[in-house]
Amino acid sequence: MDFSIKAYDAKNSIAAAKSGCVVVGVFENKKLSAAADALDASGAISAALKSGDISGKPGSALLLRGLDKVGAARVLLVGLGSADALSEKAFTSAVQAAAKAFTTLGCNDAVLALPFDDVKGRDTAWAIRSAVQALRESVFRTDGQKSKKDTSTSGVRKITLACAANAANKTALAQAIAIVNGMELTKELGNLSPNVANPTYLANTAKKLGKDYGFSVEVLERKQLEALKMGSFLSVTNGSEQPPKFIVIKHMGGKPKDAPVVLVGKGITFDTGGISLKPGPSMDEMKYDMCGAGSVLGTFRAIGELNLKLNVIGVIPACENMPSGRATKPGDIVTAMNGLTIEILNTDAEGRLILCDALTYAERFKPAAVIDIATLTGACVIALGNHNSGLFTRHDEDHDALADELLAAGKQASDTAWRMPTGELYNEQLKSNFADLANIGGQPGGSITAACFLENFTRSYKWAHIDIAGTAWKSGAAKGATGRPVPLLTTFLIKRAG
Ligand code: BES
Ligand code: MN
Ligand code: ZN
Repeated sequence: MDFSIKAYDAKNSIAAAKSGCVVVGVFENKKLSAAADALDASGAISAALKSGDISGKPGSALLLRGLDKVGAARVLLVGLGSADALSEKAFTSAVQAAAKAFTTLGCNDAVLALPFDDVKGRDTAWAIRSAVQALRESVFRTDGQKSKKDTSTSGVRKITLACAANAANKTALAQAIAIVNGMELTKELGNLSPNVANPTYLANTAKKLGKDYGFSVEVLERKQLEALKMGSFLSVTNGSEQPPKFIVIKHMGGKPKDAPVVLVGKGITFDTGGISLKPGPSMDEMKYDMCGAGSVLGTFRAIGELNLKLNVIGVIPACENMPSGRATKPGDIVTAMNGLTIEILNTDAEGRLILCDALTYAERFKPAAVIDIATLTGACVIALGNHNSGLFTRHDEDHDALADELLAAGKQASDTAWRMPTGELYNEQLKSNFADLANIGGQPGGSITAACFLENFTRSYKWAHIDIAGTAWKSGAAKGATGRPVPLLTTFLIKRAG
């Protein structure tokens, strides 16, 4: 899909513009948007509204053809809801309705003449981004591993957004496209079957990104991980035939001496639970347990495309969590890279075991901040559902500022997170009689004790943890990865780059 921005005015009128289709909004009380009014010289649009052919409700749509005094072959009316205030949801529904119509139209190009400047509580950049996101979503395919692919070439491919062609809007469009491209990589990696998307595949994807965008990429193998004494990470790989990979990817777009932001992504390419085996139903969804890693790679694609002026380092511990005669057992005690001993009471709490060594490894970069992203706990899904990712940090002034920055980025990007508590009381749940730490803290506050486990390994820098167990993919009929939290992370980094 090709996007561009064009401003229409009295001289360069939307009515005269030649195109396959022009999309304009109408409101519930039979009111026309300004763009709809500009196309209504013949009275056909107001007649359609008056007759009740289109309600103006968000999501409603009506295609008209061959209007008098309109240069476009088709006019697509889409409902914008109440004329008093254009809500985010109504705007998005209108774009989705247009996107749906676009997939079956017999034309190649369209002009989207929606009120990009008028969404309540949002700027034009937001409207541009959500339009691009909804349109690209409508043509996203998950048939990469089907023998018969959707080869249809019909539908709208070239889309002009009718809004001011100023620098801010052009930047917003470039960022929107980069974010969606990043999300698509994250979705593709998440959706790929786990026999394909194994640790080696993630490493190769990182290397390919390195070639495409000039990132330096290093992949540490088992021998090197042993030399680094990553006993916790390695314990998770014991049951797997797939070699573990520890991926380090660097985008040094800032000044050489600037402290980098480090993104650490959980890369469990399949989580059976190990000896603490998960139940069978829905176990296939544990192919998504690498979505933290996928979102780091997706974010790198976005910042590479934008050539962001910031130093960002991605760190991805990748392996499978499998049962076998060689697998780690409940009760095993392992020594993490930082010297802490861990009693593994449940081999299904493996995400924290691979992340803790990656978090220790991150110390060497003297980071400005470290953010880890992980499908870490089912408890987070119970706490926050599928709408907000869980955000965890320490609770002091510096960390409140970092948390606020991440929460604001999430809001701006419509990829929200919700802050959760941490602290000594929760940390006490991780006490072990036999080791420095246990890897589980019991059911109460399960997402919080998981975060607290990680916190023990992050005391030399500013740190935040994002639990995406509820937001990284959808179950049911619409099963698939969502690409979250690439919008949050990329927006955060864009703002950091200034
Ligand atoms: N990958 C899972 C977390 C998960 C579960 C994400 C369900 C999405 C949906 C993680 O490795 C895990 O198994 N966590 C356990 C921790 C428990 C054993 C303390 C969980 O959440 O049940
Ligand atoms: Mn698990
Ligand atoms: Zn897991």
